[in-house]
Amino acid sequence: MSIATQPTHSEERPTPRPGIMAIHPYVPGKSSAPGAAKVYKLSSNETPLGPSPLAIEAYRGVAAHLAEYPDGAATELREAIGAVFGLDPAHLVCGFGSDDLLTQLARAYLADGDEAIHTTHGFLVYPIATLASGAKPVVAAETNYTADVDAILAAVTERTRIVFLANPNNPTGTYVPFDEIKRLHRGLPPRVLLVLDAAYAEYVRRNDYAAGIELVARSQNVAMCRTFSKIHGLAALRLGWMYAPPHVIDAVNRIRGPFNVNMAASAAGIAAIRDTGHVERSAAYNEKWLAWLSAEIGRLGLTVTPSVANFILIHFPHSKGKSAAAADTVLTARGLILRQVGAYGLPHALRMSVGTEEANRLVVATLADFMARPDPHG
Ligand SMILES: Cc1ncc(COP(=O)(O)O)c(C=O)c1O
Repeated sequence: MSIATQPTHSEERPTPRPGIMAIHPYVPGKSSAPGAAKVYKLSSNETPLGPSPLAIEAYRGVAAHLAEYPDGAATELREAIGAVFGLDPAHLVCGFGSDDLLTQLARAYLADGDEAIHTTHGFLVYPIATLASGAKPVVAAETNYTADVDAILAAVTERTRIVFLANPNNPTGTYVPFDEIKRLHRGLPPRVLLVLDAAYAEYVRRNDYAAGIELVARSQNVAMCRTFSKIHGLAALRLGWMYAPPHVIDAVNRIRGPFNVNMAASAAGIAAIRDTGHVERSAAYNEKWLAWLSAEIGRLGLTVTPSVANFILIHFPHSKGKSAAAADTVLTARGLILRQVGAYGLPHALRMSVGTEEANRLVVATLADFMARPDPHG
């Protein structure tokens, strides 16, 4: 009997583990605007200033070594991060983006039937990583688009193993002051791992904010994740790092890919983390344009959630002609790609990354036209 004529048992086929088919796949920000003369991508919170020139040079230097495996322990990179932040490199692990580290934490600490908490508009990777581990995502309500410590503590049950908290949060741009983070930590049972996802920490200019380093240093159940994708401008290379107690680092080191940081990412990352001047210039640029965009868009009669990150959440009226979807159509026609955030439970909002001066001014001018035009459905 030839292979082609073998009977097929169509009823029987491999099935994924429970939870996998409940996952809504992550949809990255759009990157094209058909028909527009010039495209401004403001949908993925990438930096308009690009990476440090030293990081680009280091990346190019890797071309002569492409046949070699990278250092699986990312030793030099961990040493460079440790030197900049005053951390013991043995308490650091690097990953293929911070997504990778968040996923490894879920794999390491969640089993079937366990629960992991995230907040209403929390980063979508948390429920994905939770469901992929067979566990149940539990949503804690936010207050004014901001994580609410009391709501998170009230959501803790016997089955809770992880609390995922982006601080600042994406897509809202809001943050939880460090005193509140400490109160959250005090209220959690020691078996619960508090994951502080500080992807946007470098942008925050608030005296009452801290990324969590101090809390990790004196606790056994706190991990802090950071990324090179945002202020360091290395999103294409996929690079993140985590600072955690040695027992957490040990668990992640056992299950992560043996070469989960490639040589180009490592070389560029070392140069980027050392270029503190570039980081500071990028943060100062963001501070200026974040304030400008928030004020100018607010003046158009649109509500902007106060943000401390490198993006803003813009809320639109619910009437059809002035809706977020209608605004998105008008913006896209001019090459301005913002992020629709319906998947985050925010169908009436768009998220905009702080862009180049040209892009920022064009968004404000386009939204001014949009708000001024008669509403055909109004
Ligand atoms: C809150 C938050 N955490 C983590 C990430 C993932 O970053 P990475 O590119 O390092 O995987 C993002 C990216 O958008 C984010 O917004």
